[in-house]
Amino acid sequence: MTTSTATLKLQSEIPLDQEIENIIRSSDKLTIGTRKGTEILYGPDPRGLKILPQPTRERLEAAGIDISKGYPSVPDKSEVPIYLDEAFAIRNDDYPYVDRGKNADPEKKALLGAAKEVIHYTKHIGTELVGLQLADLTDKQRDELALLIGERGVVFFREQKLSPQKQLELGEYYGRVEKHPQGSQVNGLRGITVIWQDYQQQVLGSNRTFKNNNYNNFDFARNYPGAGTQIMHTDLVHEKTPAGITHLHLDTIPDVGGDTYWFSGYAAYDKLSEEFKKFLDGKKAVYVSAHKYLDRDDPFGGPKNIERVHPLVRTHPSTGWKSLFVNKSMTRRILGVSPVESDIILNYLFDVYEKNADIQVRFKWGPQKPGYGVSAIWDNRITQHKSVFDAEGRAARHGTRVTALGEVPYLDPNSKSQREALGLPLDE
Ligand SMILES: [Fe+2]
Repeated sequence: MTTSTATLKLQSEIPLDQEIENIIRSSDKLTIGTRKGTEILYGPDPRGLKILPQPTRERLEAAGIDISKGYPSVPDKSEVPIYLDEAFAIRNDDYPYVDRGKNADPEKKALLGAAKEVIHYTKHIGTELVGLQLADLTDKQRDELALLIGERGVVFFREQKLSPQKQLELGEYYGRVEKHPQGSQVNGLRGITVIWQDYQQQVLGSNRTFKNNNYNNFDFARNYPGAGTQIMHTDLVHEKTPAGITHLHLDTIPDVGGDTYWFSGYAAYDKLSEEFKKFLDGKKAVYVSAHKYLDRDDPFGGPKNIERVHPLVRTHPSTGWKSLFVNKSMTRRILGVSPVESDIILNYLFDVYEKNADIQVRFKWGPQKPGYGVSAIWDNRITQHKSVFDAEGRAARHGTRVTALGEVPYLDPNSKSQREALGLPLDE
């Protein structure tokens, strides 16, 4: 009788949410969020080594990264948040943001003068700089690059010799680097996210296929299986300060396939009528995370996304131009209008981005020069992007991504659209 009372008393002293957390953390069978795969692993993954492409292996080893126990790494289970409120609290502070492009030379002479060639891919978005090594840029050139990215949306660099450590250092120059609580990372280097579809497909058992990979491009409101980065999106919009300057470096590139699209948010905004712009200016919307966590108040309700409110139209701090800050994967609803109105408006805004070929760029990463990688650095505040899934996770493609977070998104009521600022006609 005494034992049973003590047991009951003990149980009642542990809150339910704590009890669930204890069970998840102590179980080999349970995980949280969107981590896939039947065999749950944390730390370096030995299975990844079996399919690690040779150019990637050479880059990692040359940089002194220890892959002897496996690759890539997933944060230790004890560090992964279980509940939404814990995940929401990550970086939910007043971290000072320094905008590197703001005081850069508007003509960018140090950067553009040192390039062998400057190739604008399209009128509105995408520029390649030839003949520069990202690892060797001076601070002045880095500042000018920040401004160029702020103006052109995305800037490409081919034939790069770039270690993960150097990539991280450049990211840290541009802002606070995001350290993902769940994502796969380069061993020992939190802040470098591994972008490796072959691993997702072949090791983690992603169910993305040729048939289903685009379903969410037809109906954003429904979460189809296989939905992923081929849906137009910007990164990390659930953060208090979402992604700013973001750098993907591919060290293994397929001969054919695996392209990436970027879309201009300045130009998407300028496609709208002046009356509709006025309606949207100042509206706010709910943005969600890609990864999921449990709701402490409804732990049996299944994993849920983090939600964060941001302005729908935002001002870029370097250029001062307005951009349409919607995101097909992660903007869920506009505040202050009905759900029906919100869906109709959002679908229209996504269409403006997707159906106007003149505000997009499609980047073919290859062909790869042996021993060199290719970098794309874009501004997630003023663009959306999506990957093309035609390599289907079978052709070797591996990259490392470093994301410098930006400022708390804001709309400066005195800021102008890009066309307005450049003196281009708004009514034709
Ligand atoms: Fe992305």
